[in-house]
Amino acid sequence: WQLIAPRDPSLPPVVFHWLPFIGSAPSYGNDPLKFFFECREKYGEVFTFILFGRKVTVTLGPKGNNFVLGGKSLSLSAEDAYTHLTTPVFGKDVVYDVPNEVFMEQKKFVKVGLSTENLRAYVGMIDQEVQEFLRRDASFQVFQKNATEEWGSFDVLKVLSEITILTASRTLQGKEIRDSLDKHFADLFSDLDGGFTPINFLFPNLPLESYRKRDVAHAKMSQFYQDILRKRKETGSEYEHDMMAALMNQAYRNGRPLPDHEIAHIMIALLMAGQHTSSATGSWTLLHLAEKPEVADAIYREQVEHFGSGDGHFRTMTYEDIKKLPVLDSIIRETLRLHPPIHSIMRKVREEVIVPPTLSAPSENRTFVVPKGYYVLACPAVAQVDPRIWRNADTWDPTRWSDPEGAAAKAFTEYNDEHGEKVDFGFGLVSKGTDSPYQPFGAGRHRCIGEQFAYLQLGTLIATLIRSLEFRLPGPFPAHNYHTMITLPKDPRIVQYRRRHHD
Ligand code: HEM
Repeated sequence: WQLIAPRDPSLPPVVFHWLPFIGSAPSYGNDPLKFFFECREKYGEVFTFILFGRKVTVTLGPKGNNFVLGGKSLSLSAEDAYTHLTTPVFGKDVVYDVPNEVFMEQKKFVKVGLSTENLRAYVGMIDQEVQEFLRRDASFQVFQKNATEEWGSFDVLKVLSEITILTASRTLQGKEIRDSLDKHFADLFSDLDGGFTPINFLFPNLPLESYRKRDVAHAKMSQFYQDILRKRKETGSEYEHDMMAALMNQAYRNGRPLPDHEIAHIMIALLMAGQHTSSATGSWTLLHLAEKPEVADAIYREQVEHFGSGDGHFRTMTYEDIKKLPVLDSIIRETLRLHPPIHSIMRKVREEVIVPPTLSAPSENRTFVVPKGYYVLACPAVAQVDPRIWRNADTWDPTRWSDPEGAAAKAFTEYNDEHGEKVDFGFGLVSKGTDSPYQPFGAGRHRCIGEQFAYLQLGTLIATLIRSLEFRLPGPFPAHNYHTMITLPKDPRIVQYRRRHHD
């Protein structure tokens, strides 16, 4: 029909496709970045593609990110885009199941639980959980034997998923959740997680077993958290540093306290928000460190310099210490540049929006209109690996962040000069603006509130692993698997390790 019907010139160009309803779903689903770069070649920074009947307008580059992430929530709605996926998993009356103003209040409640004081208490706990895991888990038998020459191996995603849930539950989620992890909680999590996939996003109501399991798991998990809350109130137990304790003391602006089911559902939402994002980032980081042992050695030397006692022992880091470790910091930052866990950030258009001429068709000075009912999509990952912005864009090079003369600083300066605009990226500092070319945590009103926690969790667990182990990569570096909600390393993702020589 595209060939016959004259195209409305105010609409963004539609990506060519053969199959009417399915549209570009296969190309987008298999490799969204490749698809977006190819579309940019053909259509420019703004185009619409068809995804199982939905019309999705993509706006690329820092300006495109700004359009979606800085858009007014009245016109561009996250809840309309996501609620059918998230509400069955998180539960009623939280996040995208409520009007945006209410969720914004809920985000503030969560921030109280992520206070510096709480974060400070977490470093030691994470370190301890990781050390215990190394001493106990079957993947680390070679380490446990005390052999220094022998190499063992593990599936990096499997190990990082376990370490992430152990450390998140020991810290944010609270003691009761940590204690039940070895029992039924892990199974509940797994069933719930099976309902948080791109299929659930695309087809909200399928008569599949996984949907039924998701619903059963949600009901049980919600009840489990509510039982904990009841017990805490009955016994007056105090868990001052965890999130549930923080949420129990909050009230909305109109004075209404948070009911137990809302606290339970916020806790589930945080569990889901932090689990795959952190475990994927941790996995990619370890894969890179295994591929480039000289970078792992640089982290090790940084650890020895700050915390070593000279005999292979280390003192535990503090929260303040972690913020002052440029090598460790740059490794996480650079990993998130190449492998941001979330590739597509979507909003649903509630009232028609105009794409500014600088973005839509700059050479023709034309504006596009995105009609009501469309989706808009930002893909910060494209700007993060755009060779027009970054030098050696595809290379994992943490030094670009720590060297004031380095590639990141230069790339940003050149980008600013070329575009005649001032974006304050600073040295090592990255703009949190909605038009930054580096946005692994999103931007604007929906920006991530878990960033500090994620850095602390990842920084501590990597430092703890590097203190004890050396890594190497036995095979080729894994490609991205985009078939999951979060971009994961494809199988095989095996890393080899041995006990570190302390000399
Ligand atoms: C939002 C990434 C860890 C809680 C977001 C968004 C991104 C993101 C891209 C924006 C989504 C959008 O605009 O639609 C990440 C990454 C993480 C991470 C890369 C780790 C490496 C966490 C953790 C938590 C968390 C650990 C909780 C403790 C949230 C919340 C939002 C959010 C509550 C707000 C959603 C909204 O306002 O719509 N995150 N996240 N995230 N994240 Fe994270």
